[in-house]
Amino acid sequence: MSEENQWGSRLGFILATVGSAVGLGNIWRFSYVSYENGGGAFLIPYLVALLTTGIPLLILEFSFGKKMRGSTVLAYKKLKKKWEWVGWWPVLSVFVLLTYYVVIISWSLKYIYYALSQAWGANPEAFFYSEHLNLTSGIESIGGINITILLSVVAIWFINYIIVYNGVEKGIEKASKIFMPLLALLMLIITVRGITLPGAVAGINKFLEPDFSQLLNSKVWLAAYGQIFFTLSVCFGVMITYASYLPKDSDIVNNSFIAALANCGFSFIVGIGVFGILGYMATQTATPFEDVVTQSIGLAFIAFPKAINMLPAFSTLFGVLFFSALVIAGISSSISMVEAVVKALNDKFAWSRRKASTIVALAGLLGSLIFTTGAGLYFLDIIDYFNMQFSIVSIGIIQCIVLGWIYKASKLRDYFNPISNFQIGSWWDIMIKYFTPIILGTMLILSLISEIK
Ligand code: PHE
Ligand code: NA
Repeated sequence: MSEENQWGSRLGFILATVGSAVGLGNIWRFSYVSYENGGGAFLIPYLVALLTTGIPLLILEFSFGKKMRGSTVLAYKKLKKKWEWVGWWPVLSVFVLLTYYVVIISWSLKYIYYALSQAWGANPEAFFYSEHLNLTSGIESIGGINITILLSVVAIWFINYIIVYNGVEKGIEKASKIFMPLLALLMLIITVRGITLPGAVAGINKFLEPDFSQLLNSKVWLAAYGQIFFTLSVCFGVMITYASYLPKDSDIVNNSFIAALANCGFSFIVGIGVFGILGYMATQTATPFEDVVTQSIGLAFIAFPKAINMLPAFSTLFGVLFFSALVIAGISSSISMVEAVVKALNDKFAWSRRKASTIVALAGLLGSLIFTTGAGLYFLDIIDYFNMQFSIVSIGIIQCIVLGWIYKASKLRDYFNPISNFQIGSWWDIMIKYFTPIILGTMLILSLISEIK
């Protein structure tokens, strides 16, 4: 039997969705993606992507989930039996994402510990690869698996398991009510520290100064759209699942805007803090800003330890707070992914929440093992690339076709407008039916071309 779940309050729903949205993506991913794209060059495409695709898709997923009252699998099945597979795709993708997302949270957990003694020493880069990931030596690893990373992966999976096992209101909502205020506080401290460092202004300018010449660069646009999907947790089945627990007459449009703006506001503020710190590093080391950091995925784990080493005061505390923020942001997101998978299994096979969450946690842990080996970073890069550039983009296109064209966007709009405070005009239909699928189709084709080349 499928169980009935509901959020205890509107605030609970908002905190949980913002919790899902605000994650490693806002701190770790947003910083390196905007850094790689020149900072200021990134902001305009990012905002365009938010307004044209991000928010419209969030409205789509909130209303579809709430209307169908189920996981993506059940939602698409209710639409028409033959569309059930459309619902399984995001579940599969989010499960794959989960297996390595948890590993990055567990790195952050390990880095809280390292921060206590600044164990990364004078060369955080070498430390990250050879000590932390243990890519070269075999001291720590048994059969290729890095034991301390494995232990923290188990710990993070266990926390996820306990929260989801306890259900929507008693688990996820309760956890979000603790995590999100705490995270906001940590973010504030980090940002204030970042902007008050000497040289910070130079970095912040890099972040804010628009670089119009880059607007013709398709790579920057692709990165912006990719980041918006990732950061809003859309096309992963997560928001559909969370919205299915909304009480009957809950507002859709308002909640979508609040969640999206809170999330992007968070990224923006963290971005100011991060670029402030990078600006400080550039001044301290007298290096051109562009060369302060070169590692993409490692930005948080290499650049931050470097910055922490240079801080004039309270560097240990700052390090602990920064990596704690990553862990908290990460867990409040990973629980939403676990929930999307658990709910799908619950809907499909009538497994109880307990059974489904136990199976998902164990299977997920097993999947995470790949990323704790010496080849973990290598797999992470490839799988993340495939998942984000192909799978998620395809889900976005299919979702727009099935809901926008076959079910009809106008029908969905007639459903969510009457229960919403703000009314959405027919521009929304155009975004869902034409604009978004065309943009995503272009992204897919460009990725395929660059693959062939
Ligand atoms: N939005 C989360 C982040 O930015 C990641 C996420 C993706 C969460 C997909 C849930 C689903 O870190
Ligand atoms: Na989060």
